Amino acid sequence: MQEIDWKNIPFGFSETDYNVRCYYRNGSWGKIEVSSSNTINMHMAATSLHYGQEGFEGLKAYTGKDGQVRIFRCEENAKRMQRTAERVLMAPPPVELFHEMVKQVIQLNRRFIPPYGYGATLYIRPLLIGTGAEIGVRPSKEYLLIMFVMPVGPYFKDGFKPVDMMICRDFDRAAPLGTGTVKVGGNYAASLMSLELAKQKGFSSTIYLDAREKKYIDECGPANFFGIKGKKYITPKSESVLPSITNMSLQQLATHLGYEVERRPVPFEELAEFDETAECGTAAVITPIKRIVDPVAGKEFTYGNGEAGPVCTHLYKEYTAIQFGESPDPFGWTEVIDFK
Ligand code: PLP
Ligand code: COI
Repeated sequence: MQEIDWKNIPFGFSETDYNVRCYYRNGSWGKIEVSSSNTINMHMAATSLHYGQEGFEGLKAYTGKDGQVRIFRCEENAKRMQRTAERVLMAPPPVELFHEMVKQVIQLNRRFIPPYGYGATLYIRPLLIGTGAEIGVRPSKEYLLIMFVMPVGPYFKDGFKPVDMMICRDFDRAAPLGTGTVKVGGNYAASLMSLELAKQKGFSSTIYLDAREKKYIDECGPANFFGIKGKKYITPKSESVLPSITNMSLQQLATHLGYEVERRPVPFEELAEFDETAECGTAAVITPIKRIVDPVAGKEFTYGNGEAGPVCTHLYKEYTAIQFGESPDPFGWTEVIDFK
């Protein structure tokens, strides 16, 4: 086997030994199956392919300072996958099934879990797809829940280094009563064009405004947004953002650390008032933002001196210390994986 260069792994697909699968047929979930194939054999009329009946999740396993492997708030990902499934009429996988599959796929791919000290993790990607053949627009009767893993480094290649973001006014990611609050592939398809435009202009990603009025901050392409004003952690309340488990946890952590948390609509103009801004998510962890440019409105906002600000740094250290088992977990967020 090729040695993995733990220091330089990208956030990208790589092959591991096994994935786990579970089929929903005739109204119930079957047994968990282990596979070493990277492909799925599916009917060409499957609803996931034609009508976007699919959803996914993303979570990580962390090797701690003590050598133990931990997962973070897996139950929240399971519950969000259920909400996603319900929104697009898929069979929601039971939380216990989701949890068991996460544990098994990690145990089966132990040799791919990055050791402690490189900031790298094992990324777990659960995927739920409608596999039944339908040509009329209607939900499938059959589903596949599959989970695969890969070692990953930071989503943004410089890790905890501030990035430049572009406000997107030309395209929306999600509509107020659409599917923005759940994790379906269609939201990401809708974001590809603006992401490409932002990248062509040298930005790392996009920030979306609310689709109805274009007055408020929604979220970033693959992550939520927050701003810091003095001792306040401020994050958008919106009808079309994905409820991020990272953001939810950071709000709790920030309160615990003595910050004040505000979750409310964040007007675009407030970007001028923040001391620090950042995006947060499983893949992005906390990625500070140093510059936000709105090419259409001809506005630009800058934060700090090109380095991460003190509050983002404080939150990042405390948050990742819990995930990597460097400090106690007062919230009960982590669970040690058993390799017996
Ligand atoms: N927002 C979007 C659109 C995302 O894709 C993600 C990633 O899952 C997030 C926010 C962050 O969510 P979480 O912290 O649960 O990973
Ligand atoms: C995650 O943070 O896990 C995500 O799913 C983001 C992703 C779209 C790369």
